[in-house]
Amino acid sequence: MTTENKILTSELKDQATKIMAQYDQPRSAVLPILHLVQNTYGCITCEAETEIAALLQMPIVDMKEIVTFYTLFRSRPCAKVEFNVCRTLSCMLRGGEEIIDHLKEKLGIQPGEQTSDGKFGLHLVECLGACETAPTAQINESYVGGLTKEKIDQIISGKTK
Ligand code: FES
Repeated sequence: MTTENKILTSELKDQATKIMAQYDQPRSAVLPILHLVQNTYGCITCEAETEIAALLQMPIVDMKEIVTFYTLFRSRPCAKVEFNVCRTLSCMLRGGEEIIDHLKEKLGIQPGEQTSDGKFGLHLVECLGACETAPTAQINESYVGGLTKEKIDQIISGKTK
């Protein structure tokens, strides 16, 4: 019995097949295909995981491990402004905890959540490789270091205008 794919449309499946042709094993194409799907839909849903796993002939549990291991894959669409705050040692020693608490209070959300209007999302991530500017966050595509509560307030008010 064949089931119709809802995520992997024929066009996406064609693109995925071309990617798979570049590798010896189908499952080796998992990361570029996950990027392809996330770039198309903004996230990787459970349905997408199932369809991609079937295409790559890999167990769904392996697919879930990959999607949850890499913080750049999301199970829901991105907020307009995503705060990815570093929670690793250098940032924690330089006030990262306060920055995280301030963001939680200011936005009224916990890490892994987004505001009900979809404007802001908060995530805790491992070292961003910018320890010299700790505490640091990746805010959408930009790295912002030397974070203070005041700087966070300015960023939030600038993004809500
Ligand atoms: S520890 Fe935060 S950027 Fe490295």
